[in-house]
Amino acid sequence: MITSFAFLLASVLFILGIKLLASPKTARRGNLIAGLGMVLALLAVLPQLHGAHGGGVSLWKWLLIFVGIVLGLVIGAAGAYKVKMTAMPQMVALFNGAGGGAAALVAAIEFAHLTADSSLKLVVSMLCAAMIGAVSLSGSIIAFFKLEGHFDKPVTYPAQQLLNGALFLGSFLLALAMAGGSHSMVFMGLFLVIALALGVLMVMPIGGADMPVVISLLNSFTGLAVAADGFAIDNVAMIIAGTLVGSSGTLLTLAMCQAMNRPVTNVLFSAFGKMDATASAAAAATGSVKSVQADEAALLLSMAGRVVIVPGYGLAVAQAQHQVRQLSDELAKKGVEVSFAIHPVAGRMPGHMNVLLAEADVPYDQLIEMETINPEMERVDVCLVIGANDVVNPAAHEDKASPIYGMPIIEAEKAGTVIVMKRSMGKGFAGIENALFLRDNCRMLFGDAKASLQELVTLVKVG
Ligand code: TAP
Repeated sequence: MITSFAFLLASVLFILGIKLLASPKTARRGNLIAGLGMVLALLAVLPQLHGAHGGGVSLWKWLLIFVGIVLGLVIGAAGAYKVKMTAMPQMVALFNGAGGGAAALVAAIEFAHLTADSSLKLVVSMLCAAMIGAVSLSGSIIAFFKLEGHFDKPVTYPAQQLLNGALFLGSFLLALAMAGGSHSMVFMGLFLVIALALGVLMVMPIGGADMPVVISLLNSFTGLAVAADGFAIDNVAMIIAGTLVGSSGTLLTLAMCQAMNRPVTNVLFSAFGKMDATASAAAAATGSVKSVQADEAALLLSMAGRVVIVPGYGLAVAQAQHQVRQLSDELAKKGVEVSFAIHPVAGRMPGHMNVLLAEADVPYDQLIEMETINPEMERVDVCLVIGANDVVNPAAHEDKASPIYGMPIIEAEKAGTVIVMKRSMGKGFAGIENALFLRDNCRMLFGDAKASLQELVTLVKVG
């Protein structure tokens, strides 16, 4: 009774946590509340273990459980403290893979305890958890390496679909045998090996540029595997938590695809990044690069009535969030109206820019969504693009041959003057040229975003 109540309370905390994560203002509280739910669920499950599978838990097993919990806490906390903001997707990939692996292991261990009377529902739940969890584990590991820059080009080969089909068929036949009553651990072992191989083979053909979407999708897989485990071991908290992760991961995947104007099937099966992405955009580009010095840029900004700042991945790389806040404050002191235009996929993960700017206490009412800012862009005097590239690339609506054609962008080019801060003419995540940099109203302020912003703050202050 107490355990059921604790699970119910934990589930309510999970739901509340996810709800609060929807806004940067409440996200920290949401994280803590969901974490509290997890602690409660963990404490509630411990007494249950005592009666699991008809026997008590030996001292040795309690010790193993304790070591597992401590190791998990230490690795999780150390990882979260040490990870750089820019490496967050990699960390999510690893933690998500660990979740999938754990779900598959639970299923395999429970499978070993099946009896002749076990229901079909139980076996099917275990098979689903084992398959989806193992795919999520190996897929997430490959996604981690791709995000780290290893083999980030799509890997395709001639008999790819045939091999995947054969593996699917193999796993289906094994599942049929196991669901039909053959509770052989050899079958389960083979089933897991095939699932692990499928995870690798499904992610390898997807380009590095699409890994955040893949991770979000695999995250929803892990949620579903955990929910299936919940059915297998009759644990309500796992069913609810897993379903929450599964549904929110799916919605996030779809939201990201929508923001890139690409169907999820295109992300999974088009090997985006394999084509010669430079050809079309380069052909459309005319004009020349016009660089600007910091003193002239500071003058342009100080004289403006309205400035819109477009942050991108480079701002996160430079860790220049505090400097951009200072610049915004200094400009505001001069009577300039400053706002930040947030593109939904700027950076490398959902909400990347919101989190970064929130860290520097940029007021939320200064953050404006892309749909709201675009119609106003023509009335903006200076658009300051900081470490952003693809999300301001006009090829997205001008060049039909561009791989990013159709992706909604922040229409920076419509502002009176555009100042782009980046280190070089280097490309962005999609690996294509950006014709904005050659426009007549565009000036390039070359250098590391942090150093350049620091200089601008000083110049605006004394100017
Ligand atoms: P990007 O297009 O990746 O461009 C970032 C730019 O920052 C680069 O061109 C780079 O140019 C510059 N940069 C890097 N380090 C810098 C530094 N220290 N100082 C100044 N500039 C620096 O970024 P974006 O515009 O934010 O676009 C995000 C991309 O990620 C999109 O293609 C999007 O589809 C993709 N993506 C995002 C997500 C989510 S959910 N956010 C999910 C999937 C895919 P230099 O090397 O010349 O400095």
